[in-house]
This record gives sequence, C-alpha cells and structure tokens, in this order.
Amino acid sequence: MKRRDFLLCASAACAVSLAGEASPVLAAGDGKTIALKKPEGGKPLVQCLAERATNRAIGRSDVDLDALGALLWAAWGVNRDNGKHVVPTAMNRQECMVFAVRGDGVWEYMPKEHAVKRVLDGDRRGAFDGSGLILLYCGPKDERGFAAMHAGSMYQGAGLMCASLGLANCVKWQKHDTLDRELPLPKGWQTFITQSIGKPAA
Ligand SMILES: Cc1cc2nc3c(=O)[nH]c(=O)nc-3n(C[C@H](O)[C@H](O)[C@H](O)COP(=O)(O)O)c2cc1C
Repeated sequence: MKRRDFLLCASAACAVSLAGEASPVLAAGDGKTIALKKPEGGKPLVQCLAERATNRAIGRSDVDLDALGALLWAAWGVNRDNGKHVVPTAMNRQECMVFAVRGDGVWEYMPKEHAVKRVLDGDRRGAFDGSGLILLYCGPKDERGFAAMHAGSMYQGAGLMCASLGLANCVKWQKHDTLDRELPLPKGWQTFITQSIGKPAA
C-alpha cells in the first residue's frame, strides 16, 4: 500500500454497547479508523512453523502499524474474494472478533475493511501484562466450544506471523475478560483468551 488513510469518524463514540449495557462515556473510543496494510512475502511457512514458540520476554513498546496489520490479517483476515477468512469457522458463521490493546487505545479489527476502529480510549495494557500489544480473541459462549476453537486458530495464525516478523508472543490466560463490559461485544459474547506480543525484550 502506497499510503495509509487515516479516517476520522466524528462523534462515533457510543455510550451504549451492542451488548445493551451502558459503557462509561469517558472510556468510549472516538471511532477513529486506521486502514492497515496486508502482509506480503515473509519467511517460508515451514520456517515459521519451526520457529513458532512462546517467548515471555516481551517488550513494552508499541508494535508498529505494519506489523499490526500483518498480525491481525494472520489471525482473522479475509483471504478470499468470497469473504471467507484465514481461519475456518463452524458452519462458516464467522462468529469471531479481535481487539488490539495498544498504548493509544483499544481497537476493534474490521476484517472486511482490513482496518481497526478505536473503541476504547486510554492505555489499557496495564489491565493485562503491559506488553506492547495485547490481542483479545472473542466469540459467543456456546455449548460445543466452537468459539474457543476459533480463538485457538486465530492465536496460532498470529503466533506464526510473530515467527515471521521476529516478534515475541505468549498466549495468556490473564484477566482475559477484564474489558468485556466495555467492549462493543454482541450479547452473550466474551473474550476467550489473550495473546501478548512485542519486540523480544531479551
Ligand atoms: C490456551 C493457552 C493458554 C496459555 N496461558 C498461558 C498463561 O496464562 N501464562 C503463560 O505464561 N503462558 C501461557 N500459555 C503458553 C504455554 O505455557 C506455552 O504455549 C507452552 O508452555 C508451550 O510452549 P511453546 O508455546 O513455546 O510451545 C498458554 C498457552 C495456551 C495455548
């Protein structure tokens, strides 16, 4: 992509979440959206598989937007003209959401647009482990556990992209649902697991 569009959506802050519960007005994001870049090239798949590993020494500086675009695409991007994703979903219901917790707010990934939209203001990384980037994998609570399976597919994709980009990552069960009441999750949805990502700190 030759240029990145920064689209300011005025007054998109919403006081009422899709879950039907009031969100704190001060915490609501401004709806700013950022178009992301899709990854190109990268290390061969076999090398990424060989290098995929947990590294808990994760830096606290923000992950740059190109890497964010690559990670979100690897986790939950649309990879075909028919609108399907890099991750298979049960009955193709596509019931997944991913949020990126960054220093400049919490951003919802919009896979069709390959963009992020700010849904919460402020640096919320301290609610987790303070890593440069924390991804939240969300879906509906369901009896068969499909949403948790989808979350696993998504964090594996992002983990492989970390291997390609030389980033540290750790899938973490860390106060995973701490933001759920504030996030614009549909009713009955939750965060299943998180993934902390950043430059290797050691
Ligand atoms: C669902 C899941 C939850 C995990 N939760 C944590 C966690 O809370 N804290 C942590 O340090 N590592 C966590 N891990 C990372 C595992 O400990 C790690 O994947 C495992 O030790 C194997 O190491 P590897 O990823 O390098 O192969 C989790 C991994 C998965 C898949």
